Formats: sequence, structure tokens, C-alpha cells
Amino acid sequence: ATRPRALSGIQPTAGSFHLGNYLGAIRQYVALQETHDAFYMVVDLHAITIPQEPADLRANTRLAAAQLLAAGLDPQRCTLFIQSHVPEHAQLGWVMNCLTGFGEASRMTQFKDKSARQGADRATVGLFTYPILQVADILLYQADSVPVGEDQRQHVELTRDLAERFNTRFGSTFTVPKPHIVKEVAKIYDLQDPSIKMSKSASTPKGLVNLLDDPKATAKKIKSAVTDTGTEIRFDAEAKPGISNLLTIFSTLTGTGIADLEQRYEGKGYGALKVDLAEAMVDFVTPFRSRTQEYLDDPETLDSILAEGAEKARTVAAETLAQAYDRIGL
Ligand code: ADP
Ligand code: NA
Repeated sequence: ATRPRALSGIQPTAGSFHLGNYLGAIRQYVALQETHDAFYMVVDLHAITIPQEPADLRANTRLAAAQLLAAGLDPQRCTLFIQSHVPEHAQLGWVMNCLTGFGEASRMTQFKDKSARQGADRATVGLFTYPILQVADILLYQADSVPVGEDQRQHVELTRDLAERFNTRFGSTFTVPKPHIVKEVAKIYDLQDPSIKMSKSASTPKGLVNLLDDPKATAKKIKSAVTDTGTEIRFDAEAKPGISNLLTIFSTLTGTGIADLEQRYEGKGYGALKVDLAEAMVDFVTPFRSRTQEYLDDPETLDSILAEGAEKARTVAAETLAQAYDRIGL
């Protein structure tokens, strides 16, 4: 019996993953290991779309892999690898570039946001075509399901369009994937400005919870999260975005339903909820940090996991690429 395939990638850029990455994406990676033939990669080729220090990129790529393992990815249950170890990504990426309309690529909203932050003249062509490399990332593994946060939905839609276009023009070659987006956690918000998503590049420093930060600092950020002027602890994303974001985080981290939390804190103030959430966060990040460190302290084990992952990934990727090349006359 063959399981459906899952594929996702995560950037190593920031060093530490943040709580949005964890709740929106990484938790789903861990869950899908059990039901899917799952491939997860650290997308270092995507990381060079913005200026990088070579030594930092190298260190952060390993750190990203260590954090994914610490979060619960199990090399016995999934394939974990580094994108640049599998050259087929760049090769199929070029093919996909040649199938994408310039106008179509120009409609990607994430490019607009990211290039605006870079300064329009500094943004590279690589940053512009990044979603198209992502298309190749997904299609190489014939993925059925792509676990991501809401901000990636448009890129998965582009992937579906290009898979269908290729299949129509050249014959059935690629699986048309679906995004796997868990609604409740698809968008975790900045703790200081709940009108924007938590993000390594756009968040306020106090609104961004990095998993590898000092747990005491993290507890402090939670306790100083903005709420509203009311007192009632009730989930209402429109009227009470700050407290609703905290309820989402609390509920997901502890596996307690939102309604149960509302009941537990009935008649108590925001302060009580924040104190308990801060404690739950500390309970989560403390072992996460030490597990991450254990992988970093054992480079041989980490290297061998990643080498084995790359070999497994290449077997699949090479087969798909050969078929695609053949279909288009290469
Ligand atoms: P960032 O958005 O901070 O630049 P990435 O682009 O590397 O982070 O995102 C990695 C994964 O985490 C993607 O699947 C993305 O959709 C998800 N993700 C990022 N930020 C959030 C968030 N605030 N809430 C939910 N998921 C998120
Ligand atoms: Na993102």
C-alpha cells in the first residue's frame, strides 16, 4: 500500500524558527509523517534570494535541520534533506521558469512584499522567480499534499496551475498537489501588532517569538502581548485579535479546546491567561532548545541523517526530472 506523498520546505534564513513557523507549518510536518510518505527540506537555495553571509547560511542550514529534528521529525518516518544537495531542484526550476508567464509571476504577492522591503532596485531576479523554484520543489516529489501556512497558498496554487499546464502540453507527468492548511493556525499574528502575521522579516522585535530565544525573554514577551481594553477572555478574531491570537497559541500548544480555555478563564483577567501561557511556552521551548543543541553537538549524526535524506530524495527527484526532460524533448 503506498501512502500519499507530502512535501514541504522551510528557509534557514533567520537562525531560529518562530512560533508562527512552528504552529503553522512544522507541527503539521510532524503529524503527516504518520500518514504520508513525507519529504521535508531546508531550502537553502531559497535563502540566497536575499543577500547572505556564507558562513551564516551554512550554520543556519544545519541549525534549521537540528530544529526540525528537535520538533519531532523522525528520519525513520520521513525524508529530511537540504535542498541544494539535490541538484534536480535547480534543473526542474529552469523548466518551470520557461512555462511561467511573466505577468503570472508578477502577481505573486509575497514578491511584492519582500521586494518592497529590499528596496525595488535591490531585489534580485532570484527573488522574483523564487515561487517557480518552489513549484519545482513540490512537483519533483509528485506530492499530493503541501503543509504550509496561509501565506503560501498562492504559491501552491501556482504549482497546481503549472502542473496542469505541463500535463496538458506534454502528457500526464506531475501529480497536482493540494495545500494542507490547518485553518486554526494558518496565520499566527505578531504579539504587539495582531494586524500583521508573525514573521521573521516584518514582525516587531517584541512581537516575534523565536523558539531558540532565552525562555525568560519569551515569557516576558507573552506577558507584554497587546490585548484590548476589555476584560473578557473570549475568542473573537475581529473584535479581540490580540486575545484571540493568544487563545489560538495556548490551545494548540496544550491541546486544550478554545471553549475550554474560555470557560477556565471566565471572570479572570488577561493577566492570568498570559501567566499560564508564558509557563506553557517555557515548558515547550526549554526541551526544544536542549534537543536542538544535542543535534548540533553531534555533527556526525546530523550529517549522516542529511546525507541519507539527500540520497532518498535524489532517487525520487531524478526519476521525475528524467521523465519531464524526456517529455519536453531534452
Ligand atoms: P517567514 O514567513 O517568517 O518568512 P517562512 O517563509 O520561512 O517564514 O515560512 C515557513 C513556513 O511557516 C511556511 O509554511 C509559512 O507558511 C509558515 N508560516 C510563517 N509565518 C507564519 C505565521 N505567522 N503563521 C502561520 N504559519 C506561518
Ligand atoms: Na512565509
